[in-house]
Amino acid sequence: LAIAHGLAAPYEIEYHDALGSTNDRARELADEGAGDVVVVADEQTGGRGRLDREWAAPPGGVYASILTRPHVPPSQVPLATLAAAVAVTRAAREAGVDARIKWPNDVLVAVDDGEQGERVYRKLAGILTEMEGEADRVSWLVVGIGVNANVATADLPPTGTSLREQLGENVDRRVFLQRVLEEYHELGTDVDAVLPAWRDHALTLGQRVRVETPSGEVVGEAVDVESPGALLVETDDGVVRVSAGDCEHLRPV
Ligand code: BTN
Repeated sequence: LAIAHGLAAPYEIEYHDALGSTNDRARELADEGAGDVVVVADEQTGGRGRLDREWAAPPGGVYASILTRPHVPPSQVPLATLAAAVAVTRAAREAGVDARIKWPNDVLVAVDDGEQGERVYRKLAGILTEMEGEADRVSWLVVGIGVNANVATADLPPTGTSLREQLGENVDRRVFLQRVLEEYHELGTDVDAVLPAWRDHALTLGQRVRVETPSGEVVGEAVDVESPGALLVETDDGVVRVSAGDCEHLRPV
């Protein structure tokens, strides 16, 4: 099922039935000098997540890596990751699923936990951003997006959910991906567009959280997000700024 067939996107599309990782393929294309290409696969055999984790990528999902060469310094790249989270969240909401963003860029959905009878959040989508650049200029940027669109419940990890599970039917993955690409393209790394949109869909803001970082734990209320993607946490000792790249783990406390 070629989800990319006939897709009217602001990028060239390279489609594969199966691939190790769309991010790896996009990086290869970057090395060959390509730009403004989206690598799409129906399934991945070696999907990668943040922090060297694996990303299970069975058939039915939307797996896409957007390769661009934005004219921005590397310090602005976290904005592109937030933009991708916003794009996925908006597309999911248009499809009828109440998705929210857990800082920095996990897309979650509140579900009833049958056993405990309480609301818990399950992961619908994740984003893995990779780039190369000099101090003042990005050479290439790959934003990899994995969405459990029509993944069967039996194939989901215990902490995951899918659009299909939430809606009780499959979504049109081509339409979904097209909306994600349009939104991402429109937001770009424009801080005035990305940050307000991110705040609109944020799950984390207002929550009391514990964030694990390489330099220790930060505990307090998540009060805002700041360019290019840092979380401001009000702790007992004042406001602490945690960069998106430093988040090893975040949970509400
Ligand atoms: C995470 O939540 O840890 C990020 C998951 C990112 C998964 C996507 S699927 C498309 C792209 N190719 C990969 O190998 N990873 C990303």
